[in-house]
Amino acid sequence: MASWLAPALLAVGLASAQAPFPNGSSPLNDITSPPFYPSPWMDPSAAGWAEAYTKAQAFVRQLTLLEKVNLTTGVGWEGEACVGNTGSIPRLGFPGFCTQDSPLGVRFADYVSAFTAGGTIAASWDRSEFYRRGYQMGVEHRGKGVDVQLGPVVGPIGRHPKGGRNWEGFSPDPVLSGIAVAETVKGIQDAGVIACTKHFILNEQEHFRQPGNVGDFGFVDAVSANLADKTLHELYLWPFADAVRAGTGSIMCSYNKANNSQVCQNSYLQNYILKGELGFQGFTMSDWDAQHSGVASTLAGLDMNMPGDTDFDSGFSFWGPNMTLSIINGTVPEWRLDDAATRIMAAYYLVGRDRHAVPVNFNSWSKDTYGYQHAYAKVGYGLINQHVDVRADHFKSIRTAAAKSTVLLKNNGVLPLKGTEKYTAVFGNDAGEAQYGPNGCADHGCDNGTLAMGWGSGTADYPYLVTPLEAIKRTVGDHGGVIASVTDNYAFSQIMALAKQATHAIVFVNADSGEGYITVDGNEGDRNNLTLWQNGEELVRNVSGYCNNTIVVIHSVGPVLVDSFNNSPNVSAILWAGLPGQESGNAITDVLYGRVNPGGKLPFTIGKSAEEYGPDIIYEPTAGHGSPQANFEEGVFIDYRSFDKKNITPVYEFGFGLSYTNFSYSNLVVTRVNAPAYVPTTGNTTAAPTLGNSSKDASDYQWPANLTYVNKYIYPYLNSTDLKEASNDPEYGIEHEYPEGATDGSPQPRIAAGGGPGGNPQLWDVLYKVTATVTNNGAVAGDEVAQLYVSLGGPEDPPVVLRNFDRLTIAPGQSVEFTADITRRDVSNWDTVSQNWVISNSTKTVYVGASSRKLPLKATLPSSSY
Ligand SMILES: *[C@@H]1O[C@H](CO)[C@@H](O)[C@H](O)[C@H]1NC(C)=O
Ligand SMILES: *[C@@H]1O[C@H](CO)[C@@H](O)[C@H](O)[C@H]1NC(C)=O
Ligand SMILES: *[C@@H]1O[C@H](CO)[C@@H](O)[C@H](O)[C@H]1NC(C)=O
Ligand SMILES: *[C@@H]1O[C@H](CO)[C@@H](O)[C@H](O)[C@H]1NC(C)=O
Ligand SMILES: *[C@@H]1O[C@H](CO)[C@@H](O)[C@H](O)[C@H]1NC(C)=O
Ligand SMILES: *[C@@H]1O[C@H](CO)[C@@H](O)[C@H](O)[C@H]1NC(C)=O
Ligand SMILES: *[C@@H]1O[C@H](CO)[C@@H](O)[C@H](O)[C@H]1NC(C)=O
Ligand SMILES: *[C@@H]1O[C@H](CO)[C@@H](O)[C@H](O)[C@H]1NC(C)=O
Ligand SMILES: *[C@@H]1O[C@H](CO)[C@@H](O)[C@H](O)[C@H]1NC(C)=O
Ligand SMILES: *[C@@H]1O[C@H](CO)[C@@H](O)[C@H](O)[C@H]1NC(C)=O
Ligand SMILES: *[C@@H]1O[C@H](CO)[C@@H](O)[C@H](O)[C@H]1NC(C)=O
Repeated sequence: MASWLAPALLAVGLASAQAPFPNGSSPLNDITSPPFYPSPWMDPSAAGWAEAYTKAQAFVRQLTLLEKVNLTTGVGWEGEACVGNTGSIPRLGFPGFCTQDSPLGVRFADYVSAFTAGGTIAASWDRSEFYRRGYQMGVEHRGKGVDVQLGPVVGPIGRHPKGGRNWEGFSPDPVLSGIAVAETVKGIQDAGVIACTKHFILNEQEHFRQPGNVGDFGFVDAVSANLADKTLHELYLWPFADAVRAGTGSIMCSYNKANNSQVCQNSYLQNYILKGELGFQGFTMSDWDAQHSGVASTLAGLDMNMPGDTDFDSGFSFWGPNMTLSIINGTVPEWRLDDAATRIMAAYYLVGRDRHAVPVNFNSWSKDTYGYQHAYAKVGYGLINQHVDVRADHFKSIRTAAAKSTVLLKNNGVLPLKGTEKYTAVFGNDAGEAQYGPNGCADHGCDNGTLAMGWGSGTADYPYLVTPLEAIKRTVGDHGGVIASVTDNYAFSQIMALAKQATHAIVFVNADSGEGYITVDGNEGDRNNLTLWQNGEELVRNVSGYCNNTIVVIHSVGPVLVDSFNNSPNVSAILWAGLPGQESGNAITDVLYGRVNPGGKLPFTIGKSAEEYGPDIIYEPTAGHGSPQANFEEGVFIDYRSFDKKNITPVYEFGFGLSYTNFSYSNLVVTRVNAPAYVPTTGNTTAAPTLGNSSKDASDYQWPANLTYVNKYIYPYLNSTDLKEASNDPEYGIEHEYPEGATDGSPQPRIAAGGGPGGNPQLWDVLYKVTATVTNNGAVAGDEVAQLYVSLGGPEDPPVVLRNFDRLTIAPGQSVEFTADITRRDVSNWDTVSQNWVISNSTKTVYVGASSRKLPLKATLPSSSY
């Protein structure tokens, strides 16, 4: 499709060297993304990477051209054991990379844990839980032989509450997401596995994420997320900066277009923003089939293509032989390939893969013990699954984390339950076992039984799933109580009969979503609405109509509409339990019966309608466009920022959550910290290092006579000494207008807002220290998440933005001190003219409190001319 190539290759002149993305918020329709070349090579002095860089260079120096191509190119879909695999380097005994889903556990494997989903652990607001979950997931991937865990997710961030994959990520707030992603990356990588933070960037809806034929619409090109420079920096890029600063070894480019250029070949986003401004030193990897060009994506900064073939099992690749050709015909300078290979190997050494790697011992394409090594080609029969149990005692922390992530939204005093209630009744399809078991639907693409993860590639098989019903039954049984249940939401007469009899009813309801390649109940990944599934609202109505102690538990991928029942006097309590993972029932029972005092806080806003959140997902292609144009004209005003700006009272605001005790806030103290004045980064980079000077003679790269070709497998070799013939590309040799400077390996100017991983290191200078006292006024110990918000004060700024938080455990009657730093980044705005972060002259206010709308403490920040 030539139209995929055009945007990245067009040598569009920079309209303004200062504001490459539009600096206003409209009009955004049809805007283009400017070119930026050359692709930055690794910085030998980047903080944290020096040793890995040296080792990686030494490794890459000894490689032949074909071996370097092998490191960058996937072998093709279902070519090897993992969801993605690169070629190997047999000469050095190097097995090639295994990249494997998912952000919540090892996908397509047995004897693994199903961790709490990202969007749910976010509700714990607990740095140590973020880290521990990352570490344990890393340990499990390591034990299976995985080199790269395809997670965590901060794109989608959650522009739309209906976005299908939001639950894989953390929160629509960039600071909560940023802290969660950084801790997760550190955890995964401390376990010796490379984290792949994804999807870079603006992958905010599933509909039209990829070009293709869509039902009645015919061919529809990929959706383009169109946005302004300020929106990019202050919202969507923010958590990626934190991931880069935390050292993420890899970043996956997304399926969609941004400002009408495919992201995996968008030179502005990959070269300028990610590798330039954010100083990303690891490697970029394409989402599966998100690559749409060879040379264009190489020059635009793509380092690894996945799964390697142009389309699944086409047998052809934009790289592989084409990469070999593009080097020997001089279109791509060898330093660019060297840099890609060095970045890949640097990530490998950074996390210690040289010490931690074990051979892959599972197979994504079959659970059988014996089968084919190359599943698609059906060759290489042998032992493919060793069924290694990598779970250790992770179930304990999954239970703890899920309970800590449960948010108590309403409680008229009925909770905690004692276990001695006279008659407990449990209702809902969401309370019980699924008909075909917890792993009965491929990639969890159904809403059967209790919901504990969404659907798609961001999943893992449950080793078991503790249902709410079985866990509640165990607790009630331990107390010698009475319990009955109805798990058919449509069994109206039985529901009524039991609800009348019960003294306490616990109703489980849910709402699901997932990745766009699976449609569930008419939802093509993205949700069609924000209401409950499976007749949930009517179920609550039917139960609460007869039982005045009705407790509602919601398992959902994000916000759901609760205003039909939250004010009902018979609905005594409401809990949001998110997607808890394998320990679901135990975790909710711990909270219901007071073994855990709830301390989770909503990582999003619960409103009264989808419209309150801002522009909708595009469900139908825009007339007259190849690409649906998703114009992010709301700027940074998503989730609570939208509600605050429009003065809409939410049902439950961002950051809200109750406890079995209560807390008060007092004594806010703000101290200014001296920091050196902000210095924009200047100077030049080094020149691109040349690690090899390979022969340009095609006869050196022909197929080895003795190699056994695996059908549809991608190799680096040429089939012919005639280059055009070897390329199998009718367009071979047609000179595209390759962008100016794309092959220039000379020193390049450093970027003012850059200078270190994540951006200019001075952005993390601490400018203020804030303390406040939080007191537990109740009779039981509890956790409180103290939250710090800032008002940046400008006319275009949100009323408040979250900037820090801490989860504190406080004994009854006791007070603890909440302390938090405010960094330069926290009080800066992105300035489109200077292309840097600037502290405006507007008066800035700091707030501390229990949620985005309960901020009892406030103080003006002493002005700062830093
Ligand atoms: C490239 O990788 C393939 C697949 O692992 C392997 O068969 C081949 O020998 C490798 N080629 C080179 C030159 O290392
Ligand atoms: C080279 O890439 C082109 C697309 O740019 C593709 O059509 C062709 O099949 C590829 N060649 C090989 C040998 O994979
Ligand atoms: C299970 O899920 C499938 C697919 O979504 C659906 O068709 C079916 O009705 C569900 N079964 C039950 C019992 O909920
Ligand atoms: C919303 O979607 C769910 C899941 O498809 C469906 O069960 C429900 O009926 C829909 N709600 C409305 C109001 O259409
Ligand atoms: C709930 O209903 C029962 C039975 O009608 C009644 O005894 C009790 O007082 C009611 N409780 C509340 C809180 O309304
Ligand atoms: C194939 O031939 C090459 C060159 O003679 C040799 O180095 C290599 O070991 C052979 N590989 C196999 C798998 O026999
Ligand atoms: C290269 O040649 C092999 C053997 O003839 C053939 O099977 C394969 O399809 C060719 N590959 C490409 C990419 O043209
Ligand atoms: C060089 O090789 C690449 C990859 O096959 C091809 O796309 C490009 O057209 C070639 N360029 C020239 C000048 O031959
Ligand atoms: C930086 O590089 C540019 C061109 O690559 C050159 O013109 C300039 O003199 C260099 N500046 C320094 C400080 O080395
Ligand atoms: C937007 O960019 C234009 C062109 O660079 C510049 O003249 C204008 O001052 C900028 N406006 C703002 C608000 O940054
Ligand atoms: C703040 O005000 C000072 C004094 O008027 C001015 O020099 C400075 O440029 C202003 N800073 C910003 C970011 O507007």
